[in-house]
Amino acid sequence: MLIKRPDPILSSEITPRGVFEGRRGFLQKAAAGSIAAAALELALPGRLLAQNSAAPKLAAKPNSSYTVTDRTTPYKDVTTYNNYYEFGTDKSDPAETAHTLKTRPWTIQVDGLVKSPMTFGIDDLLKLAPLEERVYRHRCVEGWSMVIPWIGFPLSALLARVAPTGDAKYVEFVTLADKSQMPGLNAGVLDWPYREGLRLDEANHPLTLLTFGLYGEVLPNQNGAPVRLVVPWKYGFKSAKSIVRISLTNRLPLTSWNRAAPSEYGFYSNVNPNVDHPRWSQATERRIGAGGVFTPKQKTLMFNGYESEVGQLYAGMDLRKFF
Ligand code: MTE
Repeated sequence: MLIKRPDPILSSEITPRGVFEGRRGFLQKAAAGSIAAAALELALPGRLLAQNSAAPKLAAKPNSSYTVTDRTTPYKDVTTYNNYYEFGTDKSDPAETAHTLKTRPWTIQVDGLVKSPMTFGIDDLLKLAPLEERVYRHRCVEGWSMVIPWIGFPLSALLARVAPTGDAKYVEFVTLADKSQMPGLNAGVLDWPYREGLRLDEANHPLTLLTFGLYGEVLPNQNGAPVRLVVPWKYGFKSAKSIVRISLTNRLPLTSWNRAAPSEYGFYSNVNPNVDHPRWSQATERRIGAGGVFTPKQKTLMFNGYESEVGQLYAGMDLRKFF
């Protein structure tokens, strides 16, 4: 998403490390004569390739109503190909440097236009509602996508607890900005802290997930520990990582990417194959971990495939204007 790069689409064309490694493994096995084993490995669902980490487990009940059937992206790719600019702008930076993030103690302040402002300790917040596992499509504005089994509960459960007043129209998310923990803050790529926002009805939509884990484990730091947002019908940058404050407002929040490049990143940022980014097409996407160079790009779906669930939220709106 680096706005100063002349042609960011190039970065999404580079074979990601996980894909490259998978292909190298395939070629090694093929050379050793076990093509069948190599082919089987490529065909395995990502979920089966996932469980090789020592991260603490996080129990959650699978919610089949919110589980897409696409092949899940291997754990390795989900956790080593990241955008988290507070830890560097290369895709591999967050996995290498985010170990400095301290996720305990951690509090989330929920305030603004609410009847009951509250500050939650992260471990109390975790118990606010039953944790669910949901498998969502995850589409980055840069043109790549993944399919990830997240763990969390609807943000609406938290909002109900603080009771927004009748004046509340938007929800603003503010994330941690601590130079002692986050080396990327010195680079000045964005105006820190990272801020995002949703309209209140978007925030209350059942798909909008307050997220604490992935692949049956607590969130790795590079994926936004200890708590992040996941809004699957919007480009990935709406999904703020490592949230410390949630404020209800009556004014459109000024989000970090909108502030950095207003003509490129709008407030809504709904996945929309018909509205291109000013510098590249949004019509197709590359699934990370899906066989790399052997796999053609696939068509991007309206609202990332969630049109039947969320289309009504935008009825009558000109989505070219409100991009
Ligand atoms: N949140 C913070 N605080 N800082 C960031 O740089 N990057 C965003 C979003 N949330 C970002 C962030 C972008 S551009 C994307 S695509 C997703 O996080 C990436 O999430 P992932 O690394 O878990 O795939």
